[in-house]
Amino acid sequence: MDIAIAGGTGVVGAEVVRVAQARGHATRVLSRSAGVDVRTAVGLENALRGADAVIDTLNIPTLSEKTAKQFFRTTTTNLLDAERRAGVAHHIVLSIVGVDRVPHGYYGAKLAQEEVTAAGDVPWTVLRVTQFHDFAAQMHARLSFGPVHPIAHMRTQPVDVTEVAQRLVDLAERAPQGRARDLAGPREEDLAEMMRAWARHRGMRGWLPRIRVPGAFGRAMRDGTLLPAPDAERGRIAFSQWLSAQPEG
Ligand SMILES: NC(=O)c1ccc[n+]([C@@H]2O[C@H](COP(=O)([O-])OP(=O)(O)OC[C@H]3O[C@@H](n4cnc5c(N)ncnc54)[C@H](OP(=O)(O)O)[C@@H]3O)[C@@H](O)[C@H]2O)c1
Repeated sequence: MDIAIAGGTGVVGAEVVRVAQARGHATRVLSRSAGVDVRTAVGLENALRGADAVIDTLNIPTLSEKTAKQFFRTTTTNLLDAERRAGVAHHIVLSIVGVDRVPHGYYGAKLAQEEVTAAGDVPWTVLRVTQFHDFAAQMHARLSFGPVHPIAHMRTQPVDVTEVAQRLVDLAERAPQGRARDLAGPREEDLAEMMRAWARHRGMRGWLPRIRVPGAFGRAMRDGTLLPAPDAERGRIAFSQWLSAQPEG
């Protein structure tokens, strides 16, 4: 198959490229660093000509619902338009477990991305997964006030990006199926413990206090709303295994 990976230079996208190539598929990367801006659609249609499927792993690092909604609505609309014109038969979206139960902030934007996909006329599959193990590192880097790194009180069941990438390529190899079965990691973790373990592993100093995020989103993080349902598929790689494979600081 010939698979285009939107965001193919990102954390999960680069892994999707590796998995697809290892299985013998041709790949093409849609990212600004590869000369394709999906938000403005510059270079998009040419980049998709001859592709069989698109796996969308684009991202915008923001906590603003408005900014994220604009990004995911625009990029999804542009992808679907270009796919229709280029004759792409399958559009696959990576989303997040719980976006429909907590449609606020960034999650509201991911739900909007799913809605634009479902309303489009390219046959689609949406895979919702839980937070990546790498989420602890991303939050540590993004949320800091000098040496203080506040950590949201959050119950999560993180999954390894290699298992997410394998699942995305599995889905591209099959017929479009709408909502696919959710994918989560093997066990529940506490985000505060994950971030503290990450900081220790990397030799980073600082104060990592756990905070209660106010509002409906904060409540959902604390009360387990973002955990997978019992029928979700479970990956095998736990956070501790992922952490021990990361370079020490
Ligand atoms: N992090 C998590 O725990 C988690 C959990 C579940 C689902 N997800 C979902 O997984 C997806 C990928 O997340 P990630 O952390 O792997 O993302 P990431 O590392 O931030 O990578 C984002 C990718 O998007 C590309 N990109 C951004 N703007 C672009 C534009 N205008 N045109 C073309 N390419 C653009 C970037 O490449 P350039 O900069 O070169 O353009 C990069 O390849 C997201 O949709 C996220 O919601 C994440």
